[in-house]
Formats: sequence, structure tokens, C-alpha cells
Amino acid sequence: MHGIARVHPAGEASRDPRLTKLGEEPPWWRSTTVYQVYPRSFADGNGDGIGDLPGLIGRLDYLADLGVETLWLSPFYDSPQADFGYDIRDHFDVAAEYGSRGDVRRLVDEVHARGMKIVFDMVLNHTSDEHPWFRESRASRTSPRRDWYLWREGRRPGGKAPPNNWKSMLGGTGWHYDERTREWYWASFLGFQPDLNYRNPDVKREMLGVVRHWLEVGADGLRLDIFNALFKDESFADNPFSARPFPSEDNPDGFFQRSKHTIDHPDTFAFARELRVLVDSIPGPPRFLVGEVFGSPRALRRYCGDRDDGLHLVFLFKTLRTAYRGPAVRALVEEIEREFAEPLHPTYVFGNHDRPRSIHRLGDHAGRAKLMATLQLTARGVPFIYYGEEIGMPQHTIALEHGKDPVAARFRFVPDWLARPLRKIGISMNRDECRLPMAWDDGPNGGFSTAEETWLPAHPLYESINVAAERRDPDSILHCYRRLLAIRRETPALHAGSLELLGHGRGPADVVAYRRVHSRGSVDVLLNFADGDVTVPVGAAGRAMLFSTHVDAPPRAGRTLRLRAHEGVILAR
Ligand code: NOJ
Repeated sequence: MHGIARVHPAGEASRDPRLTKLGEEPPWWRSTTVYQVYPRSFADGNGDGIGDLPGLIGRLDYLADLGVETLWLSPFYDSPQADFGYDIRDHFDVAAEYGSRGDVRRLVDEVHARGMKIVFDMVLNHTSDEHPWFRESRASRTSPRRDWYLWREGRRPGGKAPPNNWKSMLGGTGWHYDERTREWYWASFLGFQPDLNYRNPDVKREMLGVVRHWLEVGADGLRLDIFNALFKDESFADNPFSARPFPSEDNPDGFFQRSKHTIDHPDTFAFARELRVLVDSIPGPPRFLVGEVFGSPRALRRYCGDRDDGLHLVFLFKTLRTAYRGPAVRALVEEIEREFAEPLHPTYVFGNHDRPRSIHRLGDHAGRAKLMATLQLTARGVPFIYYGEEIGMPQHTIALEHGKDPVAARFRFVPDWLARPLRKIGISMNRDECRLPMAWDDGPNGGFSTAEETWLPAHPLYESINVAAERRDPDSILHCYRRLLAIRRETPALHAGSLELLGHGRGPADVVAYRRVHSRGSVDVLLNFADGDVTVPVGAAGRAMLFSTHVDAPPRAGRTLRLRAHEGVILAR
């Protein structure tokens, strides 16, 4: 399948998505680069201090010029905004603060006119508790929509204890008692986000209708929110004990229980296949599904189906926890290559709207950020870039008590002396910290908005860390991303080649090296994670240096190459 020319998204006609299985050209989504826009924080078009769709449309030229090929938009649907859009009240409408349905259509057209693609966020697992379905469902035990959500009687005596021991994703019981009907409803995340009951065929039909609707509006793909929680076990039996105190990126068990009946249910894998059939049946160019799921790469590949007939992609969040060290990065790439070998296709994710910004993990070090970008944009897989990552936008500490994020509110009881060290090890309980407005320039609010006050403040270093300033500096993180995105687009080996790790056990431990192989030319990528210079053999002398994170790198390499601290290079073969 690899070793074949890629078709640029703009030139994509309506091709049968199954062609990949016949060894034809890979579909566009396998070689694309994705940029996540958090609409509330990206660009404010109407000066109310909140980002919106017209604001985003005004910045599309920036994104096209940056060279990203696909945008993923966090939810913009009608919502009480208790979880900033991940609590949907009307799946077919657009939140007034973000714009209108017309703005969505205009956005789709404008994105497509630039030869780019767009992915929408689908929150299938739950709705807002203000959704009319839930209002109806909670009204009485005999409501025709009662069974659209998961209601259960409590345990005796008096039904005042939750129906079983299931924990929500944030810890604590996920059951919520409703005084009116004296029953409990289940919510995998927060209490105002009740889970839908996918065992009810009407629910399934309605939600598949939502999926179909947005694909028909023009979405080229869908990102599926906490997809791993969709089906719960019908037995409602207690989850078994586990010794794990907290869930992690590669294991959803935690809070002292195995998530046996609540996460990764076999029926969810089957549903992934059903969704795939639906998505593949929509006329026009192929679309893709990417699942937000948590677990080891081996566990997660089950979502992609045994015959590559499930979700097209899943987020691999192990990347978020990988130490900035050669051996750790090599082991990560090795594992991803092993578990997501062809025909599966991996993803490389270093940040999103839920996690501390990647540069924070890297000690706010621009050199390290450039090296990680080089890894992300040269490894085999689809890179997901979180807005602001391309300028090294920093994480900003905001005390839990000032958090707008409902997760911050949930953990407000955690004292600062505990929150602080947790933050240091990469656990932030206030997601506002990674959602600050995009810094466009050094003007008021970093150019994000003309309002007096914005929903979150501009990050404190916006006068120097912003798009305009980095555009002027050829050595900036922004230019590094631009150069990488350009070379990835132009080089078949980088966007469609296979990957072979080089120098197993030989060579300096802090250098990760791999070859991207393609019939139209192969390249070698060398990444130096050491704090100092390292000399590596590169075979034949005179190989062209196609890229270096360091703008003053020589145009050609000798038989050996001196890589400076945090330098990453791409060499022609
Ligand atoms: C995961 C989303 O990324 C997060 O932002 C949201 O709060 C939860 N799912 C609940 O929808």
C-alpha cells in the first residue's frame, strides 16, 4: 500500500475508500496533517471576547499558509456551555456565540476552496442535561424517552445508594440521583452530561442521523468524543477490583476498579464497524473517523476492526507521556509500528484541549519543541497539532478556584499544595490552562479579540510569543513547523512511506533514527534528544540535507554528521 503516490486532498475525486485494500493509492486522510481549533479560543470575529466561526474563517489563510491540510473543530453546536460544547443541547443547531448554520456552511466552503479538509467533533456518548430528550426522560419513570438514557433504581435500603460501584472517568460514582423520580442516571463524565442508551434502537437511529447530517453538510471526517464509553454492560454488574489508583493514557482502569463493564465494551467495537459502513456509504470523497479512546496501542487497535473495517484512526495518547529521551522515543515509535502495522495507521498527538500544552512538558524549551515537531511530522501516521503548538504557546497556571472549566470546579476541593506538584508531573485539573486565546500579535488580547475582556486572558508572554513576532524570525518554532509541513507535503516518503527504525542498539542512545521508504525516493530522519552534540555515521558522504531544525545547518552531510543539541534532520538517500 505504501510506495504509491499520494493524491493531494484538493485533487481528490469520489474514490471508493476500499481501494486501499486493493493496494491502490492511499486515501487522503492517511497522509494528511490535522490542526485542532478550539473555536472559543482561536479568533473572535464579533468582539464579544469569545472565539467564533467568522473569526476562524478570517484566519483560514494563516492556516493554509502554515501548511496544515485538515482542520478539526471542537464542538460548535448549541449547548449550555457547561463543558464548552461537549454538552450538546441541539445537535442540529449552532451555538449563537459561535455563529450560525450559515457560518458552518461558509466555513466548509472556505476550507474546501483552499484545498483543505475539515473534521467535526461528534459527542455521541452523552448529551447535555438540558437536551429536550433528557428533560423528557427525567420527567417520569414512564416517559416514552425514559429508556433513552440509563436509569436504575438505587440499592437497598431506600434506594439511596448508587445502583452499582461504577466510577466515572473523573473518579467518584458516575451515578446521579434524581429526586423527582427517585432513580439514578449514569454519566461517564460529569453529572450534567447523561449517557445515552445505545441499546435503544431509537437512540441509535437518531444519533446515526446526526452523524449523517454533518457529513452531508460537508465534514470530511469526525472526531468521536470518549468513544470507548459508548456501550455499558447490560448486566450492570459491579466492576472488579483493581489496585490502580488512577487511570492513565495507556490504561483506563483506575480509582481501584477495572473498567470491565464501562469501557471498551465489545458492543462498542461492533458499533465502530457500523459507523464505518455508514461513513463509507456517504457519496463523495472518502471521510474518516478518529476515536478518542484510552489504552495501550495494542488495546486500542481493536477499534480499527480486525479487517480494517472499524474506525479509521484512534488517538494514541501514549505520546503525551513519553519522556523526552532517545530510548523512550525509540521505544514509542517501535511499539506504534508494531501495533499499528499496515493496514492500520497510527496517530501522533502531543496535546489537545484537555492536556497540558506539550511545550510545558518540554520545560518551555523551543529547541525541544522543534525536535518533537520533527518527530511528529516525519513519523508514519497522522499528526494532530493543537492550535498554538506551532508558536510554542505556553501553558498558564490558573488556580482551581478561578477555573471556568467544569473539571476545575469538580476538583476545587484539592488544596493548592497538592495541585502544584501534580501540575509538575503533567496533571492539570484545570483545562483552562491549555485553552488560552491564540496569540496573533502583540496588540491588546494578543490580537484574539477587540473586547475589553476575553473569556480567558491572553497568555502572559503574548507580546513575544505570537504569530506576528514568529513570522519575522526565521529561527522561530512557527517557521520550523512551516518548513516541516512543506517538506512533508512534497516528499512521498514522508507522507506515504513505510518506516524502518535504524541503528538498533548501535549508535548514540539519545539519537533516534528512522528511514521512510517510498518508491519515489526514501529519506532518513535523525533526531538528537541529547543536551549536547553527538556525531553519527550517515553512510555515503555528500547526502543532501533536506531539512534541519537548525536554520544554519550545512546543505550536505559528510560520512559523519555532527548533530547539535536537540537537532533533527532529514537526509536524502
Ligand atoms: C473528552 C473531551 O475532549 C473533553 O473536553 C470533554 O470534557 C469530555 N470528553 C466530555 O465530553
